[in-house]
Amino acid sequence: MQSLKKNFWKKKKVLITGHTGFKGRWLSVFLEILGANVHGLSIRSDDKKIFYSLLDRNYYCDIKNFNKLKKIINKIQPEIIFHLAAQSLVLPGYKKILDTYSTNFMGSINLLEIAKHSKKTKVILITTTDKVYKNYKNNIEFTEESELGGKDPYSASKAALEVAIQSFIEVSMHREIRIASLRAGNVIGGGDYAKNRIMTDLINFELRNKKKLEIRNPDSIRPWQYVLDVVSGYITLAENLYKNEKFIGSYNFGPDQRLKKVKVKEIVEIFKNLTETKKNKITFNKNNLSNSKEEKTIYLNNKKVKKILRIKNKITNPKELISRSFDIYRELSLTNLKNIKNVYLKEINKYINE
Ligand SMILES: NC(=O)c1ccc[n+]([C@@H]2O[C@H](COP(=O)([O-])OP(=O)(O)OC[C@H]3O[C@@H](n4cnc5c(N)ncnc54)[C@H](O)[C@@H]3O)[C@@H](O)[C@H]2O)c1
Repeated sequence: MQSLKKNFWKKKKVLITGHTGFKGRWLSVFLEILGANVHGLSIRSDDKKIFYSLLDRNYYCDIKNFNKLKKIINKIQPEIIFHLAAQSLVLPGYKKILDTYSTNFMGSINLLEIAKHSKKTKVILITTTDKVYKNYKNNIEFTEESELGGKDPYSASKAALEVAIQSFIEVSMHREIRIASLRAGNVIGGGDYAKNRIMTDLINFELRNKKKLEIRNPDSIRPWQYVLDVVSGYITLAENLYKNEKFIGSYNFGPDQRLKKVKVKEIVEIFKNLTETKKNKITFNKNNLSNSKEEKTIYLNNKKVKKILRIKNKITNPKELISRSFDIYRELSLTNLKNIKNVYLKEINKYINE
């Protein structure tokens, strides 16, 4: 992996939107370890078990509120923005259609427009998803050049955002800001409590006294990858983009060979072998494959980031991916809120030194 440079990040003013979410927390602590001056902006949430901040500098604002967002960004004057805030789930997207489109699309446009006119902001990285590609069900591996599409509202809102990002890049002739879109696969790691994600379901079952668990779509394949491989990739890209406008563009963040074709049921089997209890209470729902609201397979090509950014995933084995994440979840569940940041610090320092 290309080394992460503390000199570059020292005192760099950074804003993370969605800092109270799963990836946002890991990114917050990672950037603080590198010496950055990190600010976070998220919507205020009632569910403190799912969304909480590990930062001292917190702003609470809905990204749909252009005027309030502008005031906050003008106050912070960030040099680099990581935009992670989103309605980030496929299934709730079907029910919360207006919120999904207005947050993921218009909220992001608000941010882009404000960042473009902000005096200090030079770089903005926008997280979209691997689900922005048109899935023809012919098992192709998506490259950054693959056709955009999106069957469900979540995917469509992010694909629409990709088109808008390209337009912002095209019309930004004087490169007022340098923009990159980040298309990551399914991220696995401790501390993700968002509903309908495989690790959350397994962890809630194991650690929170649930009696039984039915897993949907056991044969689905996703580009699973470790959260710190993704987050450190985002950081490397931000640094490169800050230094050179040739890094403007779109990037897939996905797993290497060994993790590319892992099915949901294999993840579940690995998990079962790690935990001794209630194994036979986890069952698979085989009926909903044909009428599933989610794509069956997604294959993501990660050659561009490997070549251009010279980065490598450190966690390449499914067993390690799941056991490492499970260890973090277990540690988090045994740690009181005041000390939770230490769990993150320990894991990131271990990862950096591996
Ligand atoms: N986790 C994954 O596997 C994955 C995969 C591909 C892409 N992504 C994308 O990466 C980003 C981060 O994902 P995550 O898993 O950390 O998400 P998450 O759901 O855990 O966190 C979402 C964050 O966005 C904030 N937010 C939501 N609506 C907002 C609004 N209207 N205004 C301001 N803040 C708002 C929440 O408060 C939270 O901090 C998202 O854009 C998501 O779509 C995630």
